[in-house]
Amino acid sequence: MNEVGGSAVAAQRSISVNGVERRVAAPDATPLLAVLRDEFDLRSARFGCGHEQCGACMVLVDGVPRYSCTLQVGEVGDRAVVTVEGLGTRERPHPIQTALIDGQAGQCGYCLSGIQISAAALLARDRAPSRREIVEALEPHLCRCGAHNRIVRAVECAARAMAGADA
Ligand code: FES
Ligand code: FES
Repeated sequence: MNEVGGSAVAAQRSISVNGVERRVAAPDATPLLAVLRDEFDLRSARFGCGHEQCGACMVLVDGVPRYSCTLQVGEVGDRAVVTVEGLGTRERPHPIQTALIDGQAGQCGYCLSGIQISAAALLARDRAPSRREIVEALEPHLCRCGAHNRIVRAVECAARAMAGADA
């Protein structure tokens, strides 16, 4: 850790976010979530608990869902970070985004960014996940609105859509 006189130094660093190299000055121990939201204005990842208990903050790091509330920016290195802003666009949404909207799967929506991240990671490695595998992939995510059933159905729909697109 970089410290001068006991205070953390904001080191200049470059981070790949959604395919773009971004520069930021931040101490190593800064949570990635804070950098994404406060420095890069990428607000999809959300703060829920700050303790790896809710999944609202999840982002992809080299394709793997990670808790950005506890992942320190100094640990990211040259790995590629993807947030929901990088999953799809309004014109070309990711299939999980289409399925969540079509299925009206969310209520307040607070959990859905993290859920999109975990669902996208699952669908990237398995185009035909079982219901059990979907439930397991979404296990880190709390949905206080109790929308789990609709969300799982949306992931099933997205998997079918992706399989159809592959055919
Ligand atoms: S805010 Fe990161 S797991 Fe809850
Ligand atoms: S839709 Fe409200 S927390 Fe999940």
